[in-house]
Formats: sequence, structure tokens, C-alpha cells
Amino acid sequence: MNTGLVPTDLLCEYRAEPLGIDTLKPRFSWRVDTTERGQFQSAYQILVASTLENIENDYGDMWDSGKVESKESTNVEYLGKKLESGETYYWKVRIWDKYGEVTSFSKVSKFEMGVLSPSDWQGEWITVPIYKPGPSPMFRKEFILDKPIKKARAYISGLGYYELRINGKKVGDYVLDPGWTDYSKRILYTIYDVGGYLKEGLNVVGIILGNGWWGNFPMGMRNLPQVLLQMNIEFTGGDKISIVTSRDSGWLVTLEGPIVENNIYDGEVYDARLEKPGWDTPEYSKNHQEELEKKWEIPLTAEPPGGVMVSQIIEPIRVIQDLKPISITEPKPNIYVYDLGQNIAGWVRLKVSGPKGSKVILKFAELLYEDGTVNQENLVGAKATDMYILKGDGVEIWEPRFTYHGFRYVQVEGFPGIPELENITGRAVRSSVERTGEFECSNTLLNQIYRNIVWTESNNLHSVPTDCPQRKERQGWLNDMTARYEEAIYNFRMANFYPKWLNDIHDEQGDKTGAITDTAPLVYGRRPADPVSSCYLLVPWALYLHYNDKRILEEHYEGMKRWTDYLSSQAKDYIISYSCWGDWASPINECITDSIGSGAVSAVTPGELMSTGYYYFNTLILSKIAHILGNYDDEQKYRGLSEKIREAFNNKFLDQAKNQYAKGSQASHIFPLFLDIVPEENKKGVIENLLKDILEVHNGHLATGNQCTKYLLETLTDLGFVDIAYLIATQTTYPSWGYMIQNGATTVWERWELMTGPGMNSHDHPMYGSIGSWFYKGLAGIKPSEDGPGFTKFIIKPNIPKDLKWVKCSLRTIKGTAISNWEKKEDSLMLEVKIPFNTEARVYIPKLNIKDKKFVIKEGEIEIFKDGKFLNKVEGIINGKEDNEYVIFDIGSGSYSFTLSIVE
Ligand code: BGC
Repeated sequence: MNTGLVPTDLLCEYRAEPLGIDTLKPRFSWRVDTTERGQFQSAYQILVASTLENIENDYGDMWDSGKVESKESTNVEYLGKKLESGETYYWKVRIWDKYGEVTSFSKVSKFEMGVLSPSDWQGEWITVPIYKPGPSPMFRKEFILDKPIKKARAYISGLGYYELRINGKKVGDYVLDPGWTDYSKRILYTIYDVGGYLKEGLNVVGIILGNGWWGNFPMGMRNLPQVLLQMNIEFTGGDKISIVTSRDSGWLVTLEGPIVENNIYDGEVYDARLEKPGWDTPEYSKNHQEELEKKWEIPLTAEPPGGVMVSQIIEPIRVIQDLKPISITEPKPNIYVYDLGQNIAGWVRLKVSGPKGSKVILKFAELLYEDGTVNQENLVGAKATDMYILKGDGVEIWEPRFTYHGFRYVQVEGFPGIPELENITGRAVRSSVERTGEFECSNTLLNQIYRNIVWTESNNLHSVPTDCPQRKERQGWLNDMTARYEEAIYNFRMANFYPKWLNDIHDEQGDKTGAITDTAPLVYGRRPADPVSSCYLLVPWALYLHYNDKRILEEHYEGMKRWTDYLSSQAKDYIISYSCWGDWASPINECITDSIGSGAVSAVTPGELMSTGYYYFNTLILSKIAHILGNYDDEQKYRGLSEKIREAFNNKFLDQAKNQYAKGSQASHIFPLFLDIVPEENKKGVIENLLKDILEVHNGHLATGNQCTKYLLETLTDLGFVDIAYLIATQTTYPSWGYMIQNGATTVWERWELMTGPGMNSHDHPMYGSIGSWFYKGLAGIKPSEDGPGFTKFIIKPNIPKDLKWVKCSLRTIKGTAISNWEKKEDSLMLEVKIPFNTEARVYIPKLNIKDKKFVIKEGEIEIFKDGKFLNKVEGIINGKEDNEYVIFDIGSGSYSFTLSIVE
């Protein structure tokens, strides 16, 4: 019998119909959209075929999994015949539901393999014949295709960035491609379906190269731009050819194009007078024979950058949103300043007409001076200035290709005429990962904080999780990620982005020592990284919890161990005394004056306390991972070690009599509470000291740095003090997120202080956005569970601050959308939840302040819990029980509306 259910959202390696799979065991996921309660999958069958015809005939010639009795619907590994380089495979899936009824097959999906072996690459890297800093080289090649085309793919990597063009058109919509890596270790290549760009007859392929991270390292290194392209073309008759980059296959290059300067930090200079209209079309070959022969040159073969070629399976960088400016002012004659109303990462599109040779200068900034002109002081040397020189040819529309800025304001100088709002469009640019979470509540300030956090994270997803998008930095700092990794995984689908960055960390890990580095790819900071860099373990752990990704644990198991063992090698009696950043950038009056980072090192929270705490955290996570991977000896070893570290930590930092850690800072108290290593007998006293510090010493404000701010809100909430967490979160006086907003912030700052001069003060820094996870986990209460990774089993446990009336929250989990919406009334609490197909949730309904009163819980109109008893009346609710604080239900898929009300 057919159930009417059908699997949808078919993903292969977390992507819909991806090109460029380069694992021989790709993993499949699917979802089922149903409102049916308690429904789940009892078995599945996957078919994979080498042709569309086969799959349509239900014939899995590559793999027929047969009926597999399993609830698994994410990351099911391919176990069929060997997959071949460049081939397309088709697949579909059907499932059996909880009654054992089978569904129809899903729609057909497909995936395509990447370049599986180095010997499949036929071309060579090419570069410019002469070194000239600045201009972007343009490469072109003509070729004739004399038969109808069946399939054509371009495999390309251009360093730092490339734009691929065929017959006059840009191929695809990716920008700032490929993603940034340590090119000596790993180079990402991109695959395009170029069938639609090619034609029978004469074709031209063009490539423009930018410097990117390859040609313009902040440390002063310079590399010549270079590119590797292979275009595999298959004709309808079955013949195949490849067009590849090489010195002697008819490629030509010129440095005389319109992009005369390009630099990630400084901006782009574009002289439209130098455009070569049609340079990338066959017509140009006819009309410009002489120029091509005399002025264009033969490229040189370039040394390969050294790294292995890896398919870029992470979501490419794209323009994700256009913003209309909200205002324009003229603070000085002929100097105009646009306000986008939002701090973004990206650039602007300029629309202008005027005389040939007019220079329009665009200066980007997060801040304004009092006189209304842009303040670029906090960009520490990034010029963040674009220039467009007009060709004088009617309306000219331009945007840069090989730079990006972090900005809200654009100062326009030299504009011919009077610019209007419509002359500038803001373009927000980032890795195009999917947004996955939404949050709204009855407090408008919290909603603004949430929006600022999402924007800040969004602005810093640029193939690497950068610390900031504006100044001469933009690095993947590990210490920041230890704080923000969880916020990002709630707000965005990080299933491919994170593994890519974990490889970046792994690529920098010391061969001999196992020491990882402060930034990955390594540019700033040092090796060994500060011990707070536990994100190397926390990120794989989060990928496992959120997506049931066990493979990532396997892939980095040795690396995680080596880092932890490195810390062991540095420990003396289980204490790690080296520290560089620690609980970085707390309110400045609690920092060491004149310390690094414009005085960002804590004076009140010892670095060795932070380092040792994270060392403990690593061993704990590692022992859990060891268990999951079946490495029971390691599990024992690291659990044993964690016990020793816990003991040493308390011996060293805890004053038993005073219930005080170190000097008693908020961070010194919250961190061991978060780690749950405070001895039972001291816990109450430590909490009292912490609360006293928050409420009396700091008047309801935080005093934490980039690590412990997250733990402050989370752990206070978990310990039952959500009202205090809420108080801290909603302050509008210094130091707080509200204070930033009072001062006009649309993104989260790097410092609690309002700083606008030179030095370390980005206004778009995700580390203090780390509390983004608290909105989901703390207020809405949606949490993954170790008992059912990948949201197979999860938790909904809302916390209800007394001053908050309602919360609406949804999370697109890997299994489907989960919802937790609550609303509080005088004597009732309503909780609406949605549990995706094939998952179960444990739902905690808080009894709030009605503990001594009689209450009843209804689901819809039906009473389901009364007088302390679960009345087993509703489909989908498996059981119910009560403790001091909550009524707890285990429920299956579907939507439920619970109301707890007082009866008297
Ligand atoms: C980065 C920070 C980072 C710090 C120290 C700064 O330059 O912007 O986000 O935490 O260096 O590690």
C-alpha cells in the first residue's frame, strides 16, 4: 500500500544535485514533509544509476541498497560500485513508514563526481609573462567545436580569484572564487556546467584574475596570479576533447585591461576607458587581429602552488542581498555620503553617466566623523577605496570583482553631477550557506540584538570564518571561533563550510608537535595557538550533534588527539601556564593597560585558568568522541586525564574557604561552572559570589571577554537564573549589546567600549555575537541531544524570563523544521512545538511560579496531564512525567499545542 508520504529534499554531501563530489563514499540525506503525528521511517531503499533511463526504470545499476531496516535518513553512505571521475549519477529513495508501508520513490536527484585523480588534470598552471603589480591579467583562447555538444564542464582554479567568461558572458554567479585555503597544502577548484555557454563553431574562453589572498598577503608576500583550467567537452556522438590552460595551446594574455588595481583590503581601481569590448567573443578575433598578435602575449607556465586539488564542495561566495541606501548627505561641497542603514560586507554597484575620464571615488567605512564624512581610522591601513574612471558612454554600471569591504557608509567623491539614492546599491556578499534559524520575541531590543548577530556572522562567512570584514585583518581566528561556532551553526547550515575550515586548521597543524595555529589559514597569530582554541574539537562535535556527521569525527580524530596531547606536553602538574589571549577583550577597565590588542588582555582572569579549563574541556570532548568511534582505551585515557585536570584546576585556582576562583572575576567563576567542575560543596558559594559580582559590583552587567560571555548567559540560564541572564542581555548601558545599539550599531562590536579611532575596534566582529546560540538553546530551548545526533532525538526546554511575554523560534534542522513558540499569560503558559518527521523530542514545560498550585496541561482541547498523572490520550505523545520544575513529555513528529493552566 502507498502511504501518501514521499521523500523530498534529496541531498548528497549536504548539497542538492552537487557537481564535484570527490569522496568515493558520498552520503545521502532526505526529508519527508508530513503533519502526521508520531510518524517515522522504519526502512529505506536507495537506488543509484549511471543513466537517467536506468533510474527511471527503477534499476540501480550502480547501487541498490535493498530494503534496509533503519531509521537513518541523514548521511547514509554510498556502498555501490566504484564511482568514476567526472561522471553523473542519478539516485532516488523510498522509505517504509512506522506501519511498515512503503512510499513511492522520490523524484530523481543526481550528483556528479569531481576530478578524482591528479592524473585526470591535463593542463598546466599559467601566469603572466612579466611582473607588474596591480593590474588584473586577462587571458583568452579561441577554439572551434565542430560537432553538437552533449555535455561540457569547466574545472577551474584561479589564484587569488578568477572570473571565467565564455563567448562574452560570465560563467555562473560565484564571486571571490575559489575559497581561501593555504594554497601550498590545498587548492579548491570549481566546476561549472558550461554546455549552455558553448556553441558549434568558433568559441572564446576568457579568464580575468585577481590577487585575492594569493597575491596580496598582509604579511607582504606577493605571488603572481595564475590559473588552471580544464574544460571537458563531450559531443553527442561520444567523442571527447579537453580545452586546457597551457603555454603552447593558443592562450594569450594582456595586462592592459580595465582593472588597474585590485587588492582585498585596499579596493579596486577600474578604468573603463581601457575596456576591450567583446574581448571574450569570437568577433574580437576577427576585428582585432593585429592587437592580438602584437599586444597580447603568450602566458608563462607557472609552478603549481603545491597543494592538492580539492573540489570546492562548500557553498561558493555570492551576492546574497541588495540594499538600497536609506539616505544621502553632502557634508562638504561635492562630497556625498550614502548610508545603507546596515553594516555589511561586500561592495556597491555604481550607476553613473558623465564625461570620459571623470573619476568617481568610493570610500567605505563603518563610521562617520561628526562632520558627516567617513571615518576610516579603524581600518588599520586597509584603504577600502574603489575608483571608477568613466568611459563617457551613456549610463555606466560598475561593481568591483576582486575586493570587498566592511561598511555601512560610502563616501562618493568626483561624481559628475548630483548623485541620487538610486546611483548606489549595496551588495552583501558571503559564502552562500543556507540560513537555518529564525527568532523573534516580545522584547524589541532582543530582536535587534538577534538581527545584529545574524548580520555580523553573515558578514564574516567568506569561505573562512573571519574575525571581521573591514580592516587589514579578516582572519579565521580560532579563539573567536571557540566562542561563536555554536551561534553560527544555529543560524546557518555549516555542514560543508565547517569541514572545509577544519581542513584549514588541519593543514596548519605541526607535523611533529601537533600544535595548531591561532589563525587558519595561518597568517596572523602564532603556533602554538592559544589553548583556548578548543574549536578544533568543538566544531566536529557540533557537526556530529547537529548533522549526525560521524565521518568528521573520524577524519579529525588524530588531529584532535595530537592537539590535546600537545597541550599535555606543555602541562605541568596538569596546569597549562602558557596563554596569549585568554578571555580576550573584556571591558577595558579590567584589562591590562597597554597590553596587546589595544589593551585587550584580561587583568582579572588568569590566562592559565582559561588555558587549563580548555585543556580539561578538550579531554572531556575527546573521551566522548573516542567512545563514539569505539576507541575505548582512548576514552578511558582522556576521561582519566580530565579527572586529573579537574582536580588540579580546583587545587590551583579555587579558594575553598571563600568559594572563590582566582581573583573572583565573573569569567573565573562562570567558566568552571560552565565546565561543571566546581566541587559540589562549593557550588552554591561560587554561584553566590558570581551573582554578587554581577548584581552588586557590576550593577547587573557583564564583565567578561570573548570566551566567557557566551557561558555567562548560557550557564546562568542552565543553573536556573534566566532572569539574571536576561537582565545582562537586555542592558542598554555600558557594557552591553544594548549600549552598542544605543550608539547606532547594526552589527556587533569587537569592544564593549565605543571606540572610533585607530587600533583594535572593529564594529562587525562576531565573537560577542556568540550569545546567538542562547536565543535558540536558552530562550526557545531547542537543543540537539547526544542520545540522537542529527536531531534524531532532541530537546525543547524553554526558559521563561519573567519580563518576556513570548518567543517564536524555528530551526531548520537537517531532518526538517523544528519549532518552539511560547506565550505566557497571567495564569497559563502556551507552548507550540513542531517536531520533524522521523524525530523525537523531549519537551519540558516549565511550571514557572505555580509550583504549589494545581494545574492541568492540555494538548489542543484534550487534557493530557492532571493531578501529577499522564493521561495517555493523544496520538504522538509517548509519555509524560513531572519533576520539581517541569512537566516532561516524550513526543514524536507532528505539531502540538500545549497549554499549562492553573485550576482553582
Ligand atoms: C582579532 C580577534 C582575536 C584577536 C586575538 C584580533 O586581531 O580581531 O578577533 O581574538 O586578535 O586573538
